[in-house]
Amino acid sequence: MSIAYLNGQYLPLTEAKISPLDRGFLFGDGVYEVIPVYNGKIFHAEKHLHRLSHSLKSIGLTIDVSETQWNSILNTLVEKNGVGDLAIYLQITRGAEESRNYPIPKKFTPTIFVFTYVPPKITFANAREGISAITLPDIRWSNCHIKAITLLPNVLLNQQAADQGSQEAILIREGYAIEGTSSNLFIVKNGVIQTTPLSPQILGGITRDVILEIAKQKQIPVEETFIFEDLLAKADEIWMCSSTREIRPVVKLNDHPVGTGKAGPLWEQMFQWFQEYKNNS
Ligand code: PDD
Repeated sequence: MSIAYLNGQYLPLTEAKISPLDRGFLFGDGVYEVIPVYNGKIFHAEKHLHRLSHSLKSIGLTIDVSETQWNSILNTLVEKNGVGDLAIYLQITRGAEESRNYPIPKKFTPTIFVFTYVPPKITFANAREGISAITLPDIRWSNCHIKAITLLPNVLLNQQAADQGSQEAILIREGYAIEGTSSNLFIVKNGVIQTTPLSPQILGGITRDVILEIAKQKQIPVEETFIFEDLLAKADEIWMCSSTREIRPVVKLNDHPVGTGKAGPLWEQMFQWFQEYKNNS
């Protein structure tokens, strides 16, 4: 049975309960992280915890948990859940009040909830099949760099993609391709990798960081640049990346093949490099 962490206690996931007055439930007043675990080892825990503290700071939510305490909580949960390949979901909200009030309470007890699950297994063969994507207007707010739990726009956009037989939507804002509903965007054109630069319009993905680090190491030219929507149709390759999907080639966009309509050679290379990186970290 899956073991969760809730407000200082480890307990079976099915027994974890929170108040319906929790501000996370009422207002979406909280932030989250999704952290991959490979073979029992937490992947870039420090980067995820750093992003978490940035998200918390951005919404003025202070908690009393040190990095050492976080590492202990996360590692204990991983051990209790059988080590192996997992995803850690971590959520912090501004807790429950006695009523429903918009203003942020001066004093509050945050709700801290963490659980693990087994994500779909990624192999070269299944990743190489690629995904199809559609473009949709980015209807989200202007603080997408905060990993906020208010994901209704992302959910609706993702569902719109699913309704059209696609696994992801590439979001368009003012003529530029920004990122996916739950992933960052890369394109390859003439051997150059391009990705949207960091700004409040995107979530600064940890997988994105790793791809940039690998590209630098391997001397593959990279440009962090705004990607015109028109460029998507002309790209040799398109990739979407996240902690749970790693790097996925987009082989069909808006019902048209991307490049040759198959996972591209640079994706193949990057996928292998990413596996080596994972295994060595
Ligand atoms: N989502 N952009 C958005 C909007 C995301 O929600 C995510 C991740 C990413 C990629 O970030 P990272 O590489 O750090 O996972 C980019 C997670 C996986 C989720 O919501 O499940």
